[in-house]
Amino acid sequence: MPKSNIVFICSNCEYKTPRWQGKCQNCGQWNTLEEHQTINSGKQPARALNSVDLASIDEGHKPRLKSGINEFDAVLGGGIVPGSLILLGGDPGIGKSTLALQLSMNISGKVLYVSGEESVSQIKLRASRVNTNHKLEVLSETELESVLSFIEGKHPDLVIIDSIQTMYSESASGVAGGVAQVTAAVQQVMRLAKQNHISFIVIGHVTKEGYLAGPKTLEHMVDTVLYLEGERFANFRILRCVKNRFGTTNEVGVFEMAGAGLIEVLNPSQLFLGEDSIKASGNTITSIIEGSRALLLEIQALTSLTNFGYPKRTTAGFDNNRLQLLTAIISKRANINLSNQDIYINVVGGIKIEEPAADLAVALAIVSSLKDIVIQETVVVGELGLSGEVRYAANLEKRIKEAEKLGFKRIICPKNKLSGEFKIEVFQVKTLGEAISKI
Ligand code: TYD
Ligand code: MG
Repeated sequence: MPKSNIVFICSNCEYKTPRWQGKCQNCGQWNTLEEHQTINSGKQPARALNSVDLASIDEGHKPRLKSGINEFDAVLGGGIVPGSLILLGGDPGIGKSTLALQLSMNISGKVLYVSGEESVSQIKLRASRVNTNHKLEVLSETELESVLSFIEGKHPDLVIIDSIQTMYSESASGVAGGVAQVTAAVQQVMRLAKQNHISFIVIGHVTKEGYLAGPKTLEHMVDTVLYLEGERFANFRILRCVKNRFGTTNEVGVFEMAGAGLIEVLNPSQLFLGEDSIKASGNTITSIIEGSRALLLEIQALTSLTNFGYPKRTTAGFDNNRLQLLTAIISKRANINLSNQDIYINVVGGIKIEEPAADLAVALAIVSSLKDIVIQETVVVGELGLSGEVRYAANLEKRIKEAEKLGFKRIICPKNKLSGEFKIEVFQVKTLGEAISKI
């Protein structure tokens, strides 16, 4: 006899509880528990199964679809795999629809653009803005079952769904955009993709906390998860891959949002450095690794005498706690008094630095501002340890090459073992004190 049970599932973290509560015990969110039915249909008799020899399976190898946007293809590992389901997430207004539209107009193959958010005339407006006159089939519809049967009939090579939160399925419960709806929609899209070898790019919104709206399980279900990131008021966008069943996840793509859509940035360091940075004390250039590339960034520090009370520590684009730590290291290990100095750190270009290899550059920027020393034509790389030691930085050769490419004269870096010849001066230092003596 089938037994029917009721469970309450949190729409944020999928925590299950048999009783309704106002607040989820697991993630602490309010009002996220939703009622679901589970049906336990007793024990079923086991079926006889057969395994197969992997070597005997034909790969059915079809070439990847090239989007015509090299940065996008590179992030995926060489284009879109036929029959794969790609989830493209990002903040509202970051440029997901623009990117999707641009690549669907460049791709070699039949593309269908399904929009639940915009009317066809709005899509047309955007398309004329991004300036491509390729043929593209568009459909403005939100009813999932009709959309899927339409796709099955048309059999395109690639379908864009913008966005999954606007699709509504009759067979699932809840409101459009809710957990049940979004999960059901992705499941149905996935089935269609695998059965008919149609590739899908599904756009998903991101919540305030930075997760894809709807359950986290969405990420488990799909083949590839991409995030388009950037600051709202800075022009650059970074396309990051956080899951990829058909390639690596360490490649990123850099774009610039311009008047005519997203433009690939072939030399990102130039974008972040700018040409007009003035020669002032407190500025240093560091190199971070994004994906498999080195990027050069400018760090600015400003120190000023504290007027009253506590000295201030303010950062933009850099972790504040990390700054406190660096301040302590500078005071203790380099004997420089900062207890009466307010310190401000800014990373130029609106990018956020998370790599510890930028430590030394931040420390030298502070010293440079305090002592009013201008650091010129120098790139600084290295993590600082608590005893003031400059620690190993990964991919140092790559960073040196990038500095060389952009015309810098010298680099201050840790004592990594280096292979290869470099045209610029390489100062390998062991401690913070040694690095300060180099400026
Ligand atoms: P959009 O692709 O609609 O964002 P999403 O789908 O992620 O919500 O992009 C919206 C922003 O991009 C909008 O604020 C304007 C800007 N934009 C440009 O700067 N240039 C362009 O050519 C286009 C189409 C948009
Ligand atoms: Mg959009």
